[in-house]
Amino acid sequence: MAVQNRFTYRAGELYCEDVPAERIAAEHGTPCYVYSRASLLERYADIRDAFGQWGALVCFSVKCCGNLSVLKLLAEAGSGFDVVSGGEICRALRAGADPQKIVFAGVGKTGEEIEYALREGILMLNVESRPELEAINVVATRLGARAAVAIRLNPDVDARTHAKTTTGKGGTKFGIGIRTAERLALDARSWDGVEVRGIHLHLGSPIYSAEPYESALTKALELVERLREAGCPVDTLNLGGGYCISYTGEEVTTPQQYAAALRTSLEKSACPVIIIEPGRYIAGNGAVLLTRMIYRKESEFGKRFLICDAAMNDLIRPTLYEAFHRVWPVRSAEGMPQVVRPDQSSFEGLVTERVDVVGPVCETGDYLARNRPLPRVEAGELLAVFDVGAYGFAMGSNYNARPRAAEVLVDGAECRLIRRRETCGDMIGPEEEWLI
Ligand code: LLP
Repeated sequence: MAVQNRFTYRAGELYCEDVPAERIAAEHGTPCYVYSRASLLERYADIRDAFGQWGALVCFSVKCCGNLSVLKLLAEAGSGFDVVSGGEICRALRAGADPQKIVFAGVGKTGEEIEYALREGILMLNVESRPELEAINVVATRLGARAAVAIRLNPDVDARTHAKTTTGKGGTKFGIGIRTAERLALDARSWDGVEVRGIHLHLGSPIYSAEPYESALTKALELVERLREAGCPVDTLNLGGGYCISYTGEEVTTPQQYAAALRTSLEKSACPVIIIEPGRYIAGNGAVLLTRMIYRKESEFGKRFLICDAAMNDLIRPTLYEAFHRVWPVRSAEGMPQVVRPDQSSFEGLVTERVDVVGPVCETGDYLARNRPLPRVEAGELLAVFDVGAYGFAMGSNYNARPRAAEVLVDGAECRLIRRRETCGDMIGPEEEWLI
């Protein structure tokens, strides 16, 4: 299936599939996350098919976009889920996930979470330390179960991405170094409550080339071979997530290219079960954030601010990672340029002004875009922030007592609410009952 851009300008107006963004904002208010059903499903099918020759199980990473309807859509399409907490297991199950397609990662699983996972019969726990494997062994033994586990390796490979989202380098809290992992797997052969069945990798996010995956996989396969020789029944190789998307409109590495680069290693591994955990690739390009401009503010210091009703509590990626998201007016006679780069200062044939797109939150770091060339926009008009389907709403908060945004799902010419905008009552409810 071809992957298409489902957010397009038609006659000077932004559409999500066949629904005008203006209409969505009028019906559901702003700020509002707008997801395209077709985009989510196409991306899922695309990455599944790219790794299809190995029958890879795609476990969508719930942390990037945990909306129940989004998860349900993907579960119905056959997706499994990568989770990192009891809360995410709960979400995935509530959305109809098959427990045998759930893998559970994270450095700090509590005894309660381990028990919940085992009782629900999930596929595999990805272990990140010896004490954690011991804890799983204790819980599983008490429940009379044998937990299938994968050891998450820290292969000490640089994914060449933002420092805050690099996870496969020695010195980060993630995974277990190869020598330690080997010792642990060998020791665990005699433990009743666990069986080391797999090796798990997750190097960081987003990763713009296949090379880090190749390096890590080469190291992992040497270990798999040694473990098998020592009698460990390792049949699962989990490559994690990190597959990049384009935030500028330029071409980036595709799932087919990652798969081609890993082909030789994957075939050599002779692992019957291959798992991948994409989050961003499936959801990232599948949503925009609609925001209405409240005021235009021109300062005597030469700055021009477009003050909008979406803020860092709605989308924290620019603030937290200096992440770049395209921002463009919803009404724009010329549409949006095909490519918008962070260093872009002008566009040929377009009259623009330099602006900071900011929100109402009381922090200087509260911005969605800085120093951007944009066509002139007036107060009351709508702007769209692109490619926010992954780690957008999911990282939102109530900071400054701001209710979380609405989320809607577009399917063709239809648009439906999949999460209503929070109310003041939602925010103060858990305290009201306990007011001193
Ligand atoms: N598997 C594991 C074990 C993970 O920790 C993650 C993401 C994924 C899979 C999915 O990675 P993806 O395919 O989405 O790249 N908040 C940051 C990204 C944090 C990623 C955390 N782990 C951002 O907004 O860029």
